[in-house]
Amino acid sequence: TRDKMPPLKGDILVHAEESKEGQPIKISDLSDQLVRAWPMGKGEDGSNVIRKGDPNNILALYRFPKGQIVAPTVLEATVDGEVVAYSDVCTHAGCSVADSEQGDGMKCPCHSGQYDPKRGCVVIGGPPPRPLTQLPIKADGEGLVVTDFFIKMPYPYQHEAEWEAFK
Ligand code: FES
Repeated sequence: TRDKMPPLKGDILVHAEESKEGQPIKISDLSDQLVRAWPMGKGEDGSNVIRKGDPNNILALYRFPKGQIVAPTVLEATVDGEVVAYSDVCTHAGCSVADSEQGDGMKCPCHSGQYDPKRGCVVIGGPPPRPLTQLPIKADGEGLVVTDFFIKMPYPYQHEAEWEAFK
């Protein structure tokens, strides 16, 4: 069913947090603190369908001051280099990744995998085998719209040092 489909072009992003679930994300809702979102598309009858039937569709959104988001983030798939969307599903064993309490990027609560959301969610610590996948988005007024499938990259690097050597 459509609630299990992956994010599709044209889907809008809505809040995933229970108190606001289904409310469209506004760019002004976002900051350097993680906001979780679901893609929402249309059902067969034209009604809105939040695609939360597949837990792999959960997304992590951030908004950073201009210039802070750099490669390997695909800047063309962000909003003005400031707003970025990633899969929130840890590439190690699928836990939902959160903000690190130390303020240094994202940390997975399960086995302490760490990612840098300003650098394409490259792995900066722990066991994850590859970065969190970026989802291409654009602005639509105050809101956010999906523009393509998750970005498939060859990921010739896993950890920070390998990315530094690769780039
Ligand atoms: Fe995230 Fe293991 S599931 S580090």
